[in-house]
Amino acid sequence: MSLLTAETFDAVGALDASILQEVKLPGLENHPKIFIKRDDAIHPLISGNKWRKLKYNLIEASRLGENALLTFGGAYSNHIHATAAAGKLFGIKTIGIIRGEEYDPLNPTLSAAEKMGMELHYLPRKIYRDRNNPDFQNELAEKYGAPYVVPEGGTNRFALKGVAELVDEIDVEYTRVCTAVGSGGTLAGVVCGLKGKARAVGFPALKHGEYLSGIISQLLKESGCGGYDNWELQTDFHQGGFAKVTDELIEFIMEFKRLNSIQLDYIYNGKMFFAIRKLIEEKYFSEEDVIIALHTGGLQGNEGIENRYRIRNK
Ligand SMILES: Cc1ncc(COP(=O)(O)O)c(C=O)c1O
Repeated sequence: MSLLTAETFDAVGALDASILQEVKLPGLENHPKIFIKRDDAIHPLISGNKWRKLKYNLIEASRLGENALLTFGGAYSNHIHATAAAGKLFGIKTIGIIRGEEYDPLNPTLSAAEKMGMELHYLPRKIYRDRNNPDFQNELAEKYGAPYVVPEGGTNRFALKGVAELVDEIDVEYTRVCTAVGSGGTLAGVVCGLKGKARAVGFPALKHGEYLSGIISQLLKESGCGGYDNWELQTDFHQGGFAKVTDELIEFIMEFKRLNSIQLDYIYNGKMFFAIRKLIEEKYFSEEDVIIALHTGGLQGNEGIENRYRIRNK
């Protein structure tokens, strides 16, 4: 890969497509102003927060002269899909360490990743649990010849730096920034970018998301943002657990699309907007609030979920 800079990276996406669009929530007559930030529109394959999180990771890999990158994810991982796409686009070899056994045929996410040139290796769940252990990461990096390791979800201090940039693009007055949460990097990046103003609210997509508080605090500290406490997690909106969907959620996502002509994903953004509606009903958000809600992408995963739950999305 030739030396990658922030300018060359940005030039490949459409940052000016990440506009703020005012949206209406299904089932509510009046509600506080909500703007969705269309990070999903930056790039068709490296979409949403993946664009933000991969940017400085790829630049760092390039600066170090590495031409292969190794990362981790589940079988439906948006991060795996986006990393494969970025590798193809910027000419860096990508290796995906996938949780669980290999299925034949591959699901749409892994099949696309493989077509984009990612080399896939599978780890039994018990072994995969060790994915954040630096010694284990080094072992895999050596084994597969890819010394630049990006953790699961793409989350590290380089990711936070990329995400923080989106805050400066917001050109309206606002009181809250909402984002879905998986590994916590996006929320932490937003907090860094806010520099103490307004309040960031994160919605974990998985059960028992309380444990993420410690991880996010640690990420903030590592990035010099440990002094900011204007953030919180709302942990009751996982709808049964990661990648679980309910009829109510499916109906909400379809109605949201009818009202706003914006497709949400089922795992992250759909659940976040559903949660925002509930919190408005509960008067957690007030009429005076102006909410910025990030569309973090993830639409590549919809096909897999729609197949699994036999959802007809026309
Ligand atoms: C579409 C989408 N939105 C939100 C998130 C959550 O981001 P983070 O892992 O940075 O918390 C992820 C990934 O985990 C994702 O794929």
